[in-house]
Amino acid sequence: MIALLALILSLPAAAAPSADVEARVQELLSKMTLEEKLGQLQQLDGRADGKASPELFDLARTGRLGAVLGVLGSSEINALQRAALENSRLKIPILFGFDVIHGYRTIFPIPLALASSWDPGEVESAARVSAREAEATGLRWMFSPMVDIARDPRWGRVAEGAGEDPYLGSAMARAWVRGYQGDDPSQPGRVAACAKHWVGYGAAEGGRDYGTTEISERTLREIYFPPFKAAVDAGALTLMSAFNDLDGVPSTANRFTLTDVLRGEWKFSGFVVSDYNAVHELINHGVAQDGAQAAARALTAGVDMEMVSRDYAQNLPELVRAGAVPLSAVDEAVRRILRVKFELGLFERPYADPAREDAELLSAASRAAARRAAERSLVLLQNDGGVLPLSKSLKTVAVIGPLAVDRAALLGSWSGEGRPADAASVADAVRAALPGARVIASTGGAIGSLSDADIQSASEAARAADAAIVVLGESADMSGEASARSSLDLPGRQLELARAAAAAGKPVVAVALNGRPLTLAPLLSTVPAVLEAWQPGTEGAAAVAAALFGDANPGGHLTMTFPRSTGQIPIYYDHKNGGRPASESDHFTSKYIDGPWTPQFPFGWGLSYTTFTLSGLSVTPAVAAPGATAIVRVEVSNDGARAGDAVVQLYLRRRFAEVTRPVAELKGFSRVGLKSGESRVVEFALGPAELGFLGADMKFSEPPGDYEITVGTSSVGGLTARLTVGGRR
Ligand code: NOJ
Repeated sequence: MIALLALILSLPAAAAPSADVEARVQELLSKMTLEEKLGQLQQLDGRADGKASPELFDLARTGRLGAVLGVLGSSEINALQRAALENSRLKIPILFGFDVIHGYRTIFPIPLALASSWDPGEVESAARVSAREAEATGLRWMFSPMVDIARDPRWGRVAEGAGEDPYLGSAMARAWVRGYQGDDPSQPGRVAACAKHWVGYGAAEGGRDYGTTEISERTLREIYFPPFKAAVDAGALTLMSAFNDLDGVPSTANRFTLTDVLRGEWKFSGFVVSDYNAVHELINHGVAQDGAQAAARALTAGVDMEMVSRDYAQNLPELVRAGAVPLSAVDEAVRRILRVKFELGLFERPYADPAREDAELLSAASRAAARRAAERSLVLLQNDGGVLPLSKSLKTVAVIGPLAVDRAALLGSWSGEGRPADAASVADAVRAALPGARVIASTGGAIGSLSDADIQSASEAARAADAAIVVLGESADMSGEASARSSLDLPGRQLELARAAAAAGKPVVAVALNGRPLTLAPLLSTVPAVLEAWQPGTEGAAAVAAALFGDANPGGHLTMTFPRSTGQIPIYYDHKNGGRPASESDHFTSKYIDGPWTPQFPFGWGLSYTTFTLSGLSVTPAVAAPGATAIVRVEVSNDGARAGDAVVQLYLRRRFAEVTRPVAELKGFSRVGLKSGESRVVEFALGPAELGFLGADMKFSEPPGDYEITVGTSSVGGLTARLTVGGRR
């Protein structure tokens, strides 16, 4: 009986009949004036110091502020909330949002790094901890996850996503949403997710942020939509419309994506917020002559809430009264926003508890989760001669490069309320890992101002040491929003530092801190080992040191291709074959005359301090009936001397179809921890969802056909087998 009661009490509120929410929404809506309705559609920004301006308080008191962003800390959030709840006529709580992208105060590795863990559980944990910290301050809405597929590393925002693959991206999208919202987003510690940027934003031409995009409907549906669909299916309460234009229609005025697909096909019932000022920017796009046209286009296309620009509030009263925009469109947007506020339990629990804020921020548990995530995100790119891990009995170690002491670089872009001072630098972490050793730090100034003297000093430090660790890459502001690069080389004279250190003739290893794939060829031929640490967060330096000295074994793998040169971009593993695929022996094939067509490191790449062997690949049944599910099994063995994690990856290739198909498509993965000498059988299921694709009619189908299945530890190489669906053709 008690158990039954406990079960009933623990049932998530989301399972409660939504008729109740609908009734409450309807009742409230019926009491609202047009101005109050438009107030719900308005989101405004706090000041740079995280405070709300007097104007925001005014709007809150008069019921004309639905949501804010960037008002921070429980006392300021509660004060603004109180203004709304104690003064406004209908006492509708304000929804507080913020860019919590990879942590609020405790910063996790950037999302691209978290994806490199190939462990959705790690992403879910990062989201859960971030939500707990943020929600304790009164924030109830994260502008995350960014689920844009990115195939162009010049685009600075690749740091914020899961990389180039829709299957992996979908798994990570689900994990982010689960981590933020849980089963019941109204519970303490839970928040609303916002899948962004709907849609195609990552395909900006030339990698220039905010740029135009040119994407076929097939590519939209097969590559760019899936992570959004996964987020919606996982229950994401909100989406953000993107800055780009798509086939001539800006994403923020795009009825096809915002309404036909999102509402019609996917039955999404949450709300869509525009990106920052994106409604007003419809004027710059050239599809609206003024704010009134911008408001009318965005709202009627399906953008429910306007972020920062005020075209809705300023123009819709007149447009609605004149009959140019139907009131029903405003009502529908209000309904969607109120629904989310009810589902978040905002009416029942509108305020933050300052005691929880103190307890949650930067707690030992948050730090421990960030530490583990950082360790699991590390990718060992190269380790010639097994130079890594370094011995812990080294007497003198040189730590070289400006990034060795740059703690902001560890946090990366969009680092919430994270503080560099909360993080140890890589140099500090090396000192802590080798308490008995002498650590010579030769760090120079900033990346952009390395001098001859700095390079000389690096050379001297390496000569005086038993081994050198060169820390290089990008500073925090070199990736992220509006930080596109036209070169992906190591910025400044960092390569010279590595060369100077290597010339000393001692073992030299490099640690890369960066927010995107880089062109590393000159570094790779200078130093034997490169550990890709990304921007690993508040606890990242300790994770790096653990990997450098063998207390941790790197097990992450790339989720974005590393090109050899920027001229190869876009380069991604799931490309089409074409009629003349690249071939060394035939000139008239798809390649370059001035360099290789292959990547520096393919999607899925990652080494370990141990070695793994795959064997015994089987597909059962090898000939499957249409609609059936085939099981793929493979044994993975750790035949090296250390424990380590293998990332087993399954790729499909459809041999023949009426439309061209990619040369490989990821359709299964598993990160497996194995002790030395241990083996395990990994199983993948291939059913219609994995085998199907869009036919020539753009309808999803799984016509009979042959598939080549490759299972490996990267998108290149592995064991292969055949699967035939529906009898041999
Ligand atoms: C613009 C960015 O594109 C978006 O990702 C972010 O959430 C908003 N600004 C709010 O800061």
